[in-house]
Amino acid sequence: MVYTDTCRLGCAGIVFVFVTERKNVLLHIEQAQRLAGSLLAERRFRHSAGVAKMAAELAMRYGLDPQKAAYAGWAHDIAKELPLARQSALAERYQLLLYPEDQGLAEVLHGRLAAYWLQTYYRCEDADVLAAIEHHTLGRPGMSDLELLIFSADKIEENRWFPEVDNLRQALYDNLKQGAFACMEHGLRHLEATQCPVHSLTYAAYDDLKERLNIGS
Ligand SMILES: [Fe+2]
Ligand SMILES: [Fe+2]
Repeated sequence: MVYTDTCRLGCAGIVFVFVTERKNVLLHIEQAQRLAGSLLAERRFRHSAGVAKMAAELAMRYGLDPQKAAYAGWAHDIAKELPLARQSALAERYQLLLYPEDQGLAEVLHGRLAAYWLQTYYRCEDADVLAAIEHHTLGRPGMSDLELLIFSADKIEENRWFPEVDNLRQALYDNLKQGAFACMEHGLRHLEATQCPVHSLTYAAYDDLKERLNIGS
């Protein structure tokens, strides 16, 4: 049965209207919003609202599920404000330290922690959504369209500002994969320019998407 589900998210008057199938409503956007509200400071809550809004809008543009996109947007950073030492300890306890550099880069662990919490304690069983949340920080080879969307919206939602942000937003509105690649490349170049460590997954995600887009060949 198809019906219209109106979710009033209560932040800055944002209203999402979704048309979906009732039997497939497994995601609880309001629950994700409440989690963000209880675990995040106001600034990051607004960022999460911005990611949810942009991701839902672009999901409709690209034929993806806006409900999944909004849920992932609200929930992607719910573990981010734990102290880094606590994130490392929890990741170790949950066996989420998967790469050698994870040990020294605690700030990249919050996506994995959030996905683990949502699956284990909040009955989120949607593999697409969990992957989009898990990989929003580093990316990975073979990212799905929803993963690319959340990864990119995280970088350029309406509360972000840096000189190239409008060009990146336009690129993402014009073409999902090309726009996501532009966001990925911008982030990678920024990390390199500021001499921040770059995780091997980020290079792998960049190389993979470059190859899928046939860039430079
Ligand atoms: Fe994040
Ligand atoms: Fe974020």
